[in-house]
Amino acid sequence: MSTESPPAQPHIERFLGYSKALDLTGIDFDDIPNHPLREDEIRILTYFMDVESNTIVYLKELLSTPAIEVPEIQAFLSCWAYEEFFHGFALKQFLRSYGVNIDENRTAVVAQSKNLIYHVRGFFQSLLSKAYGKRFIGVHMAWGAVNELTTAEGYLRIIAKTNHPILKELLTRIMKDERRHFAFYFREAQERLADPKTAWITSTLIRRFFEPVGADIRSLDEVDAVALMVLGDAEGLEVVRGVDRRIGTLPGLQGFRGVEDAIERTRARYGDKLGSLGQPTPAVAAT
Ligand SMILES: [Fe+2]
Ligand SMILES: [Fe+2]
Repeated sequence: MSTESPPAQPHIERFLGYSKALDLTGIDFDDIPNHPLREDEIRILTYFMDVESNTIVYLKELLSTPAIEVPEIQAFLSCWAYEEFFHGFALKQFLRSYGVNIDENRTAVVAQSKNLIYHVRGFFQSLLSKAYGKRFIGVHMAWGAVNELTTAEGYLRIIAKTNHPILKELLTRIMKDERRHFAFYFREAQERLADPKTAWITSTLIRRFFEPVGADIRSLDEVDAVALMVLGDAEGLEVVRGVDRRIGTLPGLQGFRGVEDAIERTRARYGDKLGSLGQPTPAVAAT
């Protein structure tokens, strides 16, 4: 009898095995207005809703890169975009249930208001993906790992700070999906960055250009405000350092501190406008 253990399941198969739309069973949307939300929470949730809902636009960009040529990346992106859609959808439903007015066309309007960062990134992305071919997928995977882990940790911070019981439950479910997304991106980045040239390209770009997720679709003021509200306190700083340390275990990314640097830039730009942001603000009654 062979004593060899069976080969590990490829991580794409694991991901596909668990992929499904966000389960909203038991989330009582009618009860949402019965628990007060603070102004800062509404602002944060609107931002996260926009980022989640913008995934389809980001996917369009990704599919114009060599990522489309790799079957497992294709499979991952299809399911990932599907799951992210339901995150945006659930946050929209949550905010609407509370009485927040959200335009039906908001995703399209936000997508049309893409700023300079979006256009510059798009230009360089198409140039670099032509120059580096499939190696450029490594950049996307590492970048995706940073974004997914930061998002999951951001949700955890909101869960820890909110008093809204239904929001806690909803975000806990979403956060678990973000952890699975992170696991895939991270594993894929580990494998791709084992190639020294891929690691070099990734390290050079991500260290130089990393910005928080959403920086391409919302105003700089809004990015700064939300980043500071979610991660600007002492606990947030520890979280941010933990994200950087984890990303720093990828080949070529030793000592990575892109997220902490981004938060520091945010603080430098926005710090004196901070006021009560990051602190609880008065409850907003549902309408
Ligand atoms: Fe998400
Ligand atoms: Fe995600």
